[in-house]
Amino acid sequence: MEQLLTQIKELKKEISAFNGGDAETFRIKYLGTKGLVKSLMGEMKNVAAENKKEAGQLLNEFKLFTEAKYELLKSASTTNHQPQTSNIDLTLPGDPVPLGSRHPISLVKNRMISIFQRLGFAVAEGPEIEDDFHNFTALNLPENHPARDMQDTFYISQNPDWLLRTHTSSVQVREMEKGKLPIRIICPGRVYRNETISARAHCFFHQVEGLYIAENVSFADLKQTLYFFVQEMFGETVKIRFRPSYFPFTEPSAEMDISCLICGGEGCNVCKKTGWVEILGCGMVHPNVLDNCGIDSNKYTGFAFGMGIERITMLKYQIKDLRLFSENDVRFLDQFTGAV
Ligand code: DAH
Repeated sequence: MEQLLTQIKELKKEISAFNGGDAETFRIKYLGTKGLVKSLMGEMKNVAAENKKEAGQLLNEFKLFTEAKYELLKSASTTNHQPQTSNIDLTLPGDPVPLGSRHPISLVKNRMISIFQRLGFAVAEGPEIEDDFHNFTALNLPENHPARDMQDTFYISQNPDWLLRTHTSSVQVREMEKGKLPIRIICPGRVYRNETISARAHCFFHQVEGLYIAENVSFADLKQTLYFFVQEMFGETVKIRFRPSYFPFTEPSAEMDISCLICGGEGCNVCKKTGWVEILGCGMVHPNVLDNCGIDSNKYTGFAFGMGIERITMLKYQIKDLRLFSENDVRFLDQFTGAV
């Protein structure tokens, strides 16, 4: 038994150090029918009966050890193998790495931001999960107000109510609460509504809202600002018109249309033969909203507006289905490489 042990030890050392030949030489020497592993196995018959079990285990383990070394030599010999002449043509171009492009919503959002920044508007952001106060109550939409129905949303919890914001007007409230006047901000961001998904509506979309509060701000300022925006966005020939509307947070309120970009106002299918398409809601900030946010409504006035980025993008690029924006189809997204 002693002798067997020393023999195994010696052989293991020898095997570990083996690098003198190819895998086949190794196999013949150690693992072949006349190899050393076999001959050691033959020694078993000379081992005393009480040691047989232990000797068997040792020999088995030694066999596995030798086989592992053989596998190693084999794989080393295949990876080291160099062809005499190479077929690789190093002058061929490499595999192309496809470059991504910005999402059309991001492109248009950035364009909108840069237009308003030139007019002195700063970008303000806020949370997508809002409390009831910032999304509704502060904006003159108290609990049970029927206008809340226009913006049904997803509630995270009730009492106290936490919800996914339905518009970025909540960011306006947060800025007004800071109390630093004048305020001249735009609020880009994602909003949510409980809508049935179709070509024209989705349960989430993006908005850019604007707010300007200072002394003596008038409806004329609002008109001028929005007119500048559409001319920069859609070109100088575009016309605007305002229609009276209703929003609880503005008084008076209006919706703004632009002359149809397809027919130039002649009347076509896109503008439903009217020559005009609606692009946003706006108005003079309601004094109740100013008061709710701690701003003196006798001293300050302001205007606000809000528009959907999807809508502007659809008009700009004549996209007919809102769902394309969130399907992530590269064939659609690729078309905007280098746009805007
Ligand atoms: N928050 C309105 C909406 O999501 C849009 C809007 C209208 C925003 C008038 C305004 C505004 O700031 O003055 O439908």
